[in-house]
Amino acid sequence: MLLEDKVVVITGVGSGVGRASAILFASEGAHVIGGDVREDWGKETVRLVSEAGGKEMSFVTCDVTQEADVRDLIANAISTHGRLDVMMNNVGISTPRPGMLFEEHDSDDWKRLIDVNLLGVAHGCKQAILQFKAQGNGGVIVNTGSAAGMVGWGGVPYGVSKAGVIQMTRGLAIETASQGIRVNCLCPGAIDTNFALPPEAAFQPKPPELREVLGSHHPLGRPIEAEDCANAALYLASDLSSNVTGIALPVDGGYLAR
Ligand SMILES: NC(=O)c1ccc[n+]([C@@H]2O[C@H](COP(=O)([O-])OP(=O)(O)OC[C@H]3O[C@@H](n4cnc5c(N)ncnc54)[C@H](O)[C@@H]3O)[C@@H](O)[C@H]2O)c1
Repeated sequence: MLLEDKVVVITGVGSGVGRASAILFASEGAHVIGGDVREDWGKETVRLVSEAGGKEMSFVTCDVTQEADVRDLIANAISTHGRLDVMMNNVGISTPRPGMLFEEHDSDDWKRLIDVNLLGVAHGCKQAILQFKAQGNGGVIVNTGSAAGMVGWGGVPYGVSKAGVIQMTRGLAIETASQGIRVNCLCPGAIDTNFALPPEAAFQPKPPELREVLGSHHPLGRPIEAEDCANAALYLASDLSSNVTGIALPVDGGYLAR
């Protein structure tokens, strides 16, 4: 039980990496409080956590672009469990359509990507740090960046937003280290999730051709699964990484090693 009785808030629990992390963390003994804009998807995650036999999870509807929503999400954890141990800022959205060129993005596209992917993470980091400082005995932040934030990989405004997440992670790791707060991020490759799919196509099994395309990005030859990211997040969230801060951990089947 790597997270026995730890109080963990995860954003974006309705799907993909957030859902897989909620299931894994609860099975490792954590009290998970999850937030998502999609109440129906979030409630389904609560059901899946229970089906997997994990500790009971709670769900709060939350839009990470709204700082008050993120504050309320953390307040919910505090009012139920009295403290916060781990904040996982996992929400991220893709470019409006795959393969979109830089010059095809208008300022609304830019604003949406920065609002959700960068400002959403900033809200989570800020509210968690305020709580950790009030508690006075450290804390852990796990952000979700992307391999696309470390190298050029299409979707330039998306990559810029994720590069910002990585820089926020490093800067905050230094700024908060003296308080015993650790801040790290995951940098996934191409994951087989609902990311970049229209909501009506979500949760359908992906055709083998699409999985092949996703896998072809990585030297190991297969798509990254949400569970691969959840396993890496578990390492960063738990005491296994107690002397690790400020890293951007690739979960990318070797993509960044090329
Ligand atoms: N899928 C990939 O190929 C890939 C690659 C690298 C990094 N990532 C990153 O991994 C993270 C998780 O992505 P995923 O693949 O699990 O995506 P996903 O689309 O499957 O899940 C994202 C979840 O976030 C929720 N969400 C979206 N906007 C929100 C908002 N404003 N407030 C609250 N919740 C919101 C969605 O409802 C959904 O449940 C993201 O940060 C993404 O950028 C994904």
